[in-house]
Amino acid sequence: MKRRSSSFSHKSQQYRWRRNLFALLLFGLCCFFTLLIFEAQYTRIKLFASLYRHNSPPLPQFPKIAFLFIARNRLPLDIVWDAFFQGDEDNKFSIFVHSRPGFLFNKATTKSVYFLNRQLNDSIQVDWGGSSMIEAERILLRHALEDPSNERFLFLSDSCLPLYNFSYTYDYIMSTSTSFVDSFSDTKEGRYNPKMHPVIPVHNWRKGSQWAVLTRKHAHIVVRDDSVFPMFQLHCKPAEGWKEHNCIPDEHYVQTLLAQEGLEGEITRRGVTHTSWDVKSSKVRERQGWHPVTYKLADATPSLIQSIKDIDNINYETEYRKEWCTSKGKPAPCFLFARKFTRPAALRLLNMASYT
Ligand SMILES: *[C@@H]1O[C@H](CO)[C@@H](O)[C@H](O)[C@H]1NC(C)=O
Ligand SMILES: *[C@@H]1O[C@H](CO)[C@@H](O)[C@H](O)[C@H]1NC(C)=O
Repeated sequence: MKRRSSSFSHKSQQYRWRRNLFALLLFGLCCFFTLLIFEAQYTRIKLFASLYRHNSPPLPQFPKIAFLFIARNRLPLDIVWDAFFQGDEDNKFSIFVHSRPGFLFNKATTKSVYFLNRQLNDSIQVDWGGSSMIEAERILLRHALEDPSNERFLFLSDSCLPLYNFSYTYDYIMSTSTSFVDSFSDTKEGRYNPKMHPVIPVHNWRKGSQWAVLTRKHAHIVVRDDSVFPMFQLHCKPAEGWKEHNCIPDEHYVQTLLAQEGLEGEITRRGVTHTSWDVKSSKVRERQGWHPVTYKLADATPSLIQSIKDIDNINYETEYRKEWCTSKGKPAPCFLFARKFTRPAALRLLNMASYT
């Protein structure tokens, strides 16, 4: 009995020992496979990471539109532009601001991050109506041309508003290989100074708006111009008295230069920025009795914006020419931008419009 008992106890000890060994083995095996799985996962992660780092194609670089703002000081409509630029998801624009020398766009002077430090450090004092305005345009172009991805160069004033969202605006401008330049022959007496002959013959004399969109090729031509610009500096100055010459350099320069260069076949001869001209209530003789209307808070209604969007043709009376506006071969609205708006007017419109 004692022996049996002892033999039994011996046997049970042996079983326990075997059981423990088995459990240990099982545990070891589990550990091994777990490690194996982890290792496999880790290798896979590493593989993907390296694939992503080395073999993924670089993000596509889209051609950009350079938005060139000409401002006196700050940009009063910066919040509206901020909403507009937020509509871009592919880095398809760049911004340059020409403001008075020494003016800084920082957190104190703009509420939009898009304009922080975007002002040119070699800007000049602009006298509105003088050839310094053209020089400011040339400085803007010089800077913007340094970025090879800038394909279009769009001039804007500090009172301009976008009428559409970013993608519509971008597609409209990029869908043609031409510049948009408001341009017509200017027969009004007194604006062409005969002293410009023969460098600028009168048949190349053009008028239009300074708010143009230029292709890269035409932007280069403006920056490199060393014949038409000096003529403007010498012989195209703001009038001192209303009976004198009133050349209005900024409304003649780009269009006359492109006509001089024989490049009118490469432009759409209309601008994309709408300006409303007030004839009746004008007290300003400077522009032959015309001056641009400024829309204030009370004027900024959806129907005003709609009436500008609805314009689908432009009449050039001096040339008996009517320009029906198209985009991608189809009838399209003529204007993408409008001026002049005060800040309160623009903010009211911002609440009604949706750019994003
Ligand atoms: C303007 O900034 C550029 C760099 O962006 C610099 O090379 C140049 O010297 C600066 N010019 C002036 C006048 O400060
Ligand atoms: C942008 O505006 C156009 C024209 O108004 C519209 O058809 C389009 O849906 C808008 N796109 C976005 C992303 O809001």
